[in-house]
Amino acid sequence: MAEEVLASGRSRDRCITGIDALDNILDGGIPRGNTVLVTGSVGTGKTTLCMEFLVHGALEGENCLFISVTESCDKLMNNIIPYEFFEERLIKEGRLVFIDMPVIYAQLGLEELEFEMEEVDVLIDALSDIVTELQTKRLVIDSITSVC
Ligand SMILES: Nc1ncnc2c1ncn2[C@@H]1O[C@H](COP(=O)(O)OP(=O)(O)OP(=O)(O)O)[C@@H](O)[C@H]1O
Ligand SMILES: [Mg+2]
Repeated sequence: MAEEVLASGRSRDRCITGIDALDNILDGGIPRGNTVLVTGSVGTGKTTLCMEFLVHGALEGENCLFISVTESCDKLMNNIIPYEFFEERLIKEGRLVFIDMPVIYAQLGLEELEFEMEEVDVLIDALSDIVTELQTKRLVIDSITSVC
């Protein structure tokens, strides 16, 4: 596993994205535990990049979770099936899980248009519980802009 030696002398794990060019730029991958904001114009491949990141993690045995806010998970899954990097067994094995954010909103009784700060806390707690329950190592929320 890629690692970086910090000034303190401790080493820091890198989370290999599986996208070679990105891993090279990032010196071996994303520092483990970091949150990354993927930005870009419409249709530039943000969702696909995040899927590939999750699939790579799932292939390495990590539990991976994709929370989709605006596009239905069924549609997203159908979109990635043709890609070479995708393996359907990862979904059957539960290594790669897709959840529609509107389902979470409905379960929490949240209106999608506007949240109060208390509701944001409720949402964050719910997401945190899901991550704990599924023992998620890689989480993608697509997109955080839509949640905001
Ligand atoms: N690496 C790639 N190779 C080939 N096609 C790609 C690649 N990445 C994305 N695409 C294609 O480009 C299109 C847009 O990709 P994607 O949905 O990932 O973009 P996006 O940035 O998430 O778009 P949006 O801003 O609408 O959410 C899709 O048809 C996808 O299959
Ligand atoms: Mg997208």
